[in-house]
Amino acid sequence: MKNIWIIANWKSNKNISEALEWISIVGPKIPREDNSPAGRGGLKIVVCPTFSCLSEVKKAIQVGNFPIILGAQDLSPFGIGSYTGEEPAVNLKQLVSLSILGHSERRQNFSETDEMVAKKVMESKQNEIIPLVCVQSADTKVSADCQLIAYEPVFAIGTGNPDTPENANSVAGELKQKLAESVEVLYGGSVNSGNVASFTNQTNISGVLIGKASLDAEEFVKIVEACKD
Ligand code: PGA
Repeated sequence: MKNIWIIANWKSNKNISEALEWISIVGPKIPREDNSPAGRGGLKIVVCPTFSCLSEVKKAIQVGNFPIILGAQDLSPFGIGSYTGEEPAVNLKQLVSLSILGHSERRQNFSETDEMVAKKVMESKQNEIIPLVCVQSADTKVSADCQLIAYEPVFAIGTGNPDTPENANSVAGELKQKLAESVEVLYGGSVNSGNVASFTNQTNISGVLIGKASLDAEEFVKIVEACKD
């Protein structure tokens, strides 16, 4: 059975109390199965809040014993040291198991390059944080050892205009061919509870990365439910 990753990317949304409210609604509704990052098969539910919410969200997940994996939206390309404003992977690993890297919003707004993303991948791997590398097409350069990739075409992000499941599946197939058959490819871009299953049912797609629709706790629960069968 393939993994189905359902990853909430909150971007720069939700303060601590809003984040905790979401966890209190979603947490009890997530099916209890092997949701550890290393376990194979089944649903893997991940939430990626802002840095300022991470430690409170982690506590809430632990107290509720909810099967939710905590992720970051980025990390520093450097280790500890004089890098003002950056969050090094060596510190983040106390909080998160995964990090989104190279999201198109970072490439566009913060001039992130493939080389910077490669450095971040290295930092995350050295600190046992799973790198989830976002690519905008099958041609985006990716470090050879990445096991989790999200195909997120820019035209589909936040527009309500998703790629077709068939095209997303074919790009995912190309990426697997280029990198390795074992690579898990997710789709992201205007995914919601109405269309999620049409993506996760594709043979080459192992889950979804969700922005806007993940902010609403009830909608996120519906997304998880749509992927259960
Ligand atoms: P969206 O964002 O679901 O709001 O389109 C996806 C993403 O940017 O990861």
